[in-house]
Amino acid sequence: MLIQGKSPQSNSSAKPLPKGGPVDICTGPVDGFQASSYPCEWKPIKVIGSEPDPKAHFVSEAQFRQWMTDMPKAELHTHVEGAVRPQTILDIAEEYKLPLPAPTVEELKVKIGMRQGEDLLAFLKKFDHFRFVFDQPETLQRLAYECIEDNARENIQYTELRINPRKNTEKVSIEQVLDSVLAGMDKAKKELGVDGRLIASINRSYPVESAMDIAKAAVARKDRGIVGLDLAGDEVNHPASKFAEVFDYAKANGLHLTVHAGEARGPESVLQAVELCHAERIGHGVRLQEDPAAMQVIKEKGTVLEMCPESNKLLNVTPDLKAYPLKTYMHYGIPVTINTDDRHIFDVDLSHEFTSLAKNIGLSLQDCQKVAMNAVEAAFLPAEEKAQLKQSFASQMQAFSSKLYQVSDACASERPAAP
Ligand code: ADE
Ligand code: ZN
Repeated sequence: MLIQGKSPQSNSSAKPLPKGGPVDICTGPVDGFQASSYPCEWKPIKVIGSEPDPKAHFVSEAQFRQWMTDMPKAELHTHVEGAVRPQTILDIAEEYKLPLPAPTVEELKVKIGMRQGEDLLAFLKKFDHFRFVFDQPETLQRLAYECIEDNARENIQYTELRINPRKNTEKVSIEQVLDSVLAGMDKAKKELGVDGRLIASINRSYPVESAMDIAKAAVARKDRGIVGLDLAGDEVNHPASKFAEVFDYAKANGLHLTVHAGEARGPESVLQAVELCHAERIGHGVRLQEDPAAMQVIKEKGTVLEMCPESNKLLNVTPDLKAYPLKTYMHYGIPVTINTDDRHIFDVDLSHEFTSLAKNIGLSLQDCQKVAMNAVEAAFLPAEEKAQLKQSFASQMQAFSSKLYQVSDACASERPAAP
């Protein structure tokens, strides 16, 4: 029995995979496949424009992107603050009779979007244009709901949202922020059937006492959907070591832990995150590759990387996605996931992130499926719930695959005899 391409019967307008597998490398905007003399066999499917591979089928970028939209996915690293729809920012300004940060969505997108050469610190200032959207429980609820709604539209079936709950404390308390976001997520679960959990995120620039307040509020909501604690913000000037006691407390009280590291600083920052803050997952980790010994530590600990390619490109963490280390980590045995980080600042969605890596580093369809399953495996869920989610994803992924490939006895004769 051999695996043979066939047209997906999904809502996509997919073209059939070729019988026997055209394998010539396509470099132009060709929709479909090139002819080949290869026998029918399993071939990785890659997007046109990715690295040469004589064993691969190549499909157009549009086709691959449609598959990535259809593929069941989970997303572990998405900030509510960076996932606010530009239209919603304008709606809320109007509703509360506040000055509009820009007259139109297009102009707002330019204002909050990244410009050539900007870095993490410049990025963190973008939020100053629309902090008012986090000032009311009702708006926070709306933002969380819309995050899940956006994700559901591209078949993200499980999302771990994160938010820094210290906003304008004269208007909303840390507790109110967390409760409002949880309420929005609950509403999304009821109305859209899409599951999610929340991670409370600490800004590295905060004093430790303030960080501890966030950790305590998160622990108090452990049974209501908060599953973890994160450390984000200015990695350059505020090392993770500053927050060791906060992360000790969170761990002792049953929260899962993730830390942004290896984004604006090198491997030593990643090691601090895992060794001093017990991080089970690392946000980004792009610069981990600079030190093989540090890579070995991360591999041995089984730490999962939450990689966010477009964010890393736009914040100049990676010079070019062609140099993006995701496959290096994968081959080395470090589990990786793909995420959007701040989708409406970077103007991306998760399907784009997968497709872009297929194009730039030759990630195959099968690689993408593996990475998508990694996110389920790395979810901050109790064992039983995770087992259920894994089961559901495994069967959906199988259905997704079988829409793309058919097992064809017709090809069996072409398969080389087993040794
Ligand atoms: N907050 C939101 N996105 C972030 C990022 N990429 N790095 C650090 N802090 C963040
Ligand atoms: Zn982030």
